[in-house]
Amino acid sequence: MRLVFIGPPGAGKGTQCVRLTEFLGVPHLSTGDMLRDAVQAKTKVGRLAKKYMGRGQLVPDPVIIDLIGERLGRDDCAAGYLLDGFPRTVGQAESLDEYGRGAKQPLDFALELQVDEENLVSRLLERGREDDKEKVIRRRLIAYRKQTEPVAEYYQQQDILKRIDGNTTPETVFERIKAALVR
Ligand code: AP5
Ligand code: MG
Repeated sequence: MRLVFIGPPGAGKGTQCVRLTEFLGVPHLSTGDMLRDAVQAKTKVGRLAKKYMGRGQLVPDPVIIDLIGERLGRDDCAAGYLLDGFPRTVGQAESLDEYGRGAKQPLDFALELQVDEENLVSRLLERGREDDKEKVIRRRLIAYRKQTEPVAEYYQQQDILKRIDGNTTPETVFERIKAALVR
């Protein structure tokens, strides 16, 4: 199965993907985790990404598309994948579609995890990752509304979008996701 998982910062994408990757038996690919690894390793991509991430802005499309394109070409993605936090712009979604057409691997579903803003902010402040500071969280939320919500619309038009209410316990959210993964 090929899935994309979108949702605002703190919605629980990472939390749910840990469960889903096991349930579906496909790799979990998080562009956020890949970028944090690159920052840690001080690679060229990492040095560039660090500036954007620290400001709560999206890393430019060409950088992300290269990063994920290389990863999707590996053998473990042949039977499917679970994309966490990608695509985040309509441009990224279009290039994933192109990739899928080339590889004859269309997406099965796009999941959008919806969570109220006050829950998002309190979850992130409690977690305390480097970009979980109030000012940066606000910017990440603005980037989501402006650049990523249109991606949900893009998948709605393709009729593969499933919206999930994530304002409850991780266990209940996971049950909702499993129930949504049927045509
Ligand atoms: P990324 O790492 O993707 O961060 P994000 O989208 O801001 O989302 P988070 O990882 O913070 O939240 P999550 O939804 O995974 O929630 P989690 O499960 O951790 O991206 C970081 C940055 O990288 C971006 O700002 C951008 O700069 C760059 N980037 C990444 N991808 C990019 C792309 N495609 N294009 C351009 N730039 C890109 O949960 C959060 C907390 O809540 C945890 O503590 C968790 O335990 C808790 N929690 C989870 N679920 C629940 C629940 N149901 N109830 C209560 N608490 C919960
Ligand atoms: Mg995450």
